[in-house]
Amino acid sequence: MGDDLTARGTSASALTEQVVGRLEHCSDPRLRELASGLIRHLHAFAVEEALTESEWLAGIGFLTEVGQMCSDRRQEFILLSDTLGLSMLVDLVNHGAASSATESTVLGPFYVEGSPWRSNGDAITDDLGAQPLIVTGHVRDTDGRPLTGATVDVWQNATNRLYAVQDDGQMPENLRGRFRTDSAGGFAFRTVRPVDYPIPDDGPVGRMLQATGRHPWRPAHIHFIVSAAGFIPVTTHVFDSESRYLESDVVFGVKQSLVRTLVAHDPAVEAEPPGIVGPWYTVGIDILLQPEAPAPRS
Ligand code: BEZ
Ligand code: FE
Repeated sequence: MGDDLTARGTSASALTEQVVGRLEHCSDPRLRELASGLIRHLHAFAVEEALTESEWLAGIGFLTEVGQMCSDRRQEFILLSDTLGLSMLVDLVNHGAASSATESTVLGPFYVEGSPWRSNGDAITDDLGAQPLIVTGHVRDTDGRPLTGATVDVWQNATNRLYAVQDDGQMPENLRGRFRTDSAGGFAFRTVRPVDYPIPDDGPVGRMLQATGRHPWRPAHIHFIVSAAGFIPVTTHVFDSESRYLESDVVFGVKQSLVRTLVAHDPAVEAEPPGIVGPWYTVGIDILLQPEAPAPRS
């Protein structure tokens, strides 16, 4: 009998080793490592949970629906990874080492490359609404030195909870923009206070959340990608400290260091800044970037 043939009575562990053994001719060592790890963990899962055939088939059906939901405008697999905490686990594995750099979090599906360049102080929307927010900040290196000419790419949702890419009622460039830091590493923009929102939950991931007793909400936040030549870019958020979902973010993206208080201002007490009518909020943020490791000398 060839060593591949599974005789009656073959143990689960022997089967696992047989499958992993089939990778012996894989010429890419990293692929071989990843594939064997995945096979071992999948097999262990099936054994530990005593997976039934109908459960296995339901899982295949679910993954099929996740694939069918994907399109140019929707990435249901990333949503699945996000809601299972896998995206944040990969973030932790890759950016978890102790550093004073600003912590990273999920990119999310609503990032659009090529946002319009704007000048410091500009609004990223034509409608500042009832809760205008002025964001000011600095980009520095991890020793606190200001970084001039850094790129600050920002995007967020509107008060109807939707990002412009999800909403035909918004101009495509609404609530997003790119800024360059000034000679003191500073940047500033005016926007609306972001709101809590549910991730797209009209597909299989939404059904998974419902079946497992979970809600689909993310706490209000503004997204940032900050980059500067010679430094490791950071993909991060600033979260509103008043959100009720900070402790239960559906994608596990909240890190305490990223939570900020949005400070309320009253026009009866302080003069309104230019372009603002009525009450407004401010938030100040410093973003610290870590230098790239020097290239090894050849
Ligand atoms: C977001 O913050 O835009 C987001 C992140 C993960 C899943 C869905 C949305
Ligand atoms: Fe978001």
